[in-house]
Amino acid sequence: MCVLYRPAAHARVARPMRYIRGAMTLPPGEPDSPHAVAAWVRERSREHDRYAAISDASDAHRIEHGPACTVYATSSGPLLGALAAATHAKRILEIGTGLGYSALWLADGSAPHGIVDSIERDAAHIDLARDVFARHGIDTRVRLHHGSAIEVLPRLPGPYDLIFSDSDVDEYADTLEHSVRLLRTGGLLITSNLFLGQYTADVSGIDQAIAYRDRIIDDARLRTAFTPTGLALSVRV
Ligand SMILES: C[S@@+](CC[C@H](N)C(=O)[O-])C[C@H]1O[C@@H](n2cnc3c(N)ncnc32)[C@H](O)[C@@H]1O
Repeated sequence: MCVLYRPAAHARVARPMRYIRGAMTLPPGEPDSPHAVAAWVRERSREHDRYAAISDASDAHRIEHGPACTVYATSSGPLLGALAAATHAKRILEIGTGLGYSALWLADGSAPHGIVDSIERDAAHIDLARDVFARHGIDTRVRLHHGSAIEVLPRLPGPYDLIFSDSDVDEYADTLEHSVRLLRTGGLLITSNLFLGQYTADVSGIDQAIAYRDRIIDDARLRTAFTPTGLALSVRV
């Protein structure tokens, strides 16, 4: 006979330790809410971000060039570096170079031998990123591909150990199939820009982002999880 365990109605529900041990007080400054934890992560990541100047330059460039410019440096630079290092990625593909902030982290995490192919459709961004990579001494490890993702991807042979998709979402429906084709079994697809509604309601691409999210969850070739910041991590199975 199979006996199912069912907790009694009055059983205690597990609660955060802070709640159970209510007599204790937290050390000063210790984050005491999910919001405070997110702020702590943001501040500490920034303090230790050796490429923060390029993130700042990306913001300045976007502000200077107005709404048509979509250079938003990722807020997950150190995470990209850690994931590239953890997966021992040697062949990395990035879609959406911007001014090169994320590629710096990907190259950093895959040093000394990792190669980053990065696709960018804006010629001005390509020029600025090329300069950034030269100044950081990684121009031999980052190969820039000028063109829109949907033009460039069919020309790339792969396989890649890690793909970071961080472009505008208008081509996401078409790029996903290429990403799956180009990713080695066990490789990692990291997708950004999937929760655009958190920034503004009138941003374009929300429908494409929703459809992409559904596809990577349902696709039997991918094992997908989301970080609390909305980054999708999909392993090619
Ligand atoms: C969010 S920014 C990339 C930021 C960069 N990954 C970083 O973290 O520093 C998006 C960039 O992708 C480029 N882009 C947008 N859609 C693209 C597409 N379909 N193909 C190629 N590049 C694209 C934009 O010109 C912009 O430079």
